[in-house]
Amino acid sequence: MKKMFITFEGGEGSGKTTIINRLMQELKDKNIKAFQSREPGGSKISEEIRKIILSVDNTKMDYVTEALLYAASRRQHLEEVIKPALKEGYLVICDRYVDSSLAYQGYARGLGIDEVYNLNYYATGGLLPDLTIFIDVNPEEGIARISKNNRDKDRLDLETLAFHHRVREGYLQLVKRFPERIKRIDGNKNIEELYSEIRKVIFENL
Ligand code: TYD
Repeated sequence: MKKMFITFEGGEGSGKTTIINRLMQELKDKNIKAFQSREPGGSKISEEIRKIILSVDNTKMDYVTEALLYAASRRQHLEEVIKPALKEGYLVICDRYVDSSLAYQGYARGLGIDEVYNLNYYATGGLLPDLTIFIDVNPEEGIARISKNNRDKDRLDLETLAFHHRVREGYLQLVKRFPERIKRIDGNKNIEELYSEIRKVIFENL
């Protein structure tokens, strides 16, 4: 089956963004009609919700509120951007989607994968990606990469290392739960090797 909606998942510093940029370039070179987006965000309203969620000032945010805001941002992005792009025949590549909520809010925050799945089922009408690439990086390595890049830290970057280990465990549970859809790729290698492995999986499925 042709895969039209592909998402990338992983912990902090997994290299998703670099890989997605390379992939978009290759798709463009091959004249494949592709559209890139990201979560939380990807549309005006969703980007505004993103600011609220990630602001380092919002340390008081309740975990259920956090899950609801991610779901609200996702709903808007889906209706306004993703669904129309899929309808127009674009291959949609999205940096994070439902699985981020399941791993971060469901598992790492402890709200429950099933509970967060149900919330997101309502928000998305059950629309899941055709293929999800989970880049699995050791959290110590991922965090070291972020500090090296000197990127501005957001509220979730400020979480403890233990939290990021739980996020990884959450993703590993999701790989077991959706083995057909989620492909785990070992991300503890250089970007060249990582890209060549990922592009192989993607082009096999197009
Ligand atoms: P972002 O800067 O986009 O992170 P990254 O570069 O690591 O992809 O920030 C998004 C943060 O929000 C990231 O820490 C993961 C988190 N997140 C959730 O907790 N739940 C979600 O549903 C989504 C989409 C992201």
